Amino acid sequence: MKKNIILAISGASGVAYGKRLFDFLHETGHKIHLLVSKQGEQILQEEMDLTLDYFCKDGVTFYANHNLNAKIASGLFPCSGMVIVPASMGVIGRIASGISDDLVSRAADVTLKEKGKLVLVPRETPIHQIHLQNMLTLSSAGATILPASPGFYYRPQKLGDLVDFIVARILKTLDIEHDLLKPWEPRNKEG
Ligand SMILES: Cc1cc2nc3c(=O)[nH]c(=O)nc-3n(C[C@H](O)[C@H](O)[C@H](O)COP(=O)(O)O)c2cc1C
Repeated sequence: MKKNIILAISGASGVAYGKRLFDFLHETGHKIHLLVSKQGEQILQEEMDLTLDYFCKDGVTFYANHNLNAKIASGLFPCSGMVIVPASMGVIGRIASGISDDLVSRAADVTLKEKGKLVLVPRETPIHQIHLQNMLTLSSAGATILPASPGFYYRPQKLGDLVDFIVARILKTLDIEHDLLKPWEPRNKEG
């Protein structure tokens, strides 16, 4: 079944994760409601030479982050889930504090209050107590904290394999079928 997904790219490193999720959802016909923060836009340029034009595709609705009148700011918007990938510690802090002063934080706030699926993919290192407390607050409120820390037991051969590892986990959380990662089989079957 095709889903209605809110995808936000915030200003953390690792925008490749957001782009890969966008590409997968678009290629598989899911409806994307896209948000990119001002810093997210900067980092798309910095890390991937990408501008917002890349995301102007059929089936994609783009919202300006300052537009708090958008339909995704309402609890009545029918949505299958929201993902912030990558998620900056700034946006995590704003959501954890209930500060809904832009559309990314407002849509996340609404997703939580409506008991929807909110997936946050934080990227920062090292992290301090306030970061940890904010993530605990959000986890307690029902969000899934899915750190951008790919596993190496699949023996990744290229950068894209590491990106797919994380995107596969996001898709699983959203109950979206994919073929990005096969179920893991141990090499050493003994023990
Ligand atoms: C090149 C670059 C990389 C950054 N990477 C991170 C990061 O990985 N994690 C993070 O929390 N902040 C990172 N920042 C800082 C955020 O962009 C900054 O806190 C910003 O206010 C976040 O805005 P947003 O939450 O509205 O997107 C980075 C900034 C720059 C310029």
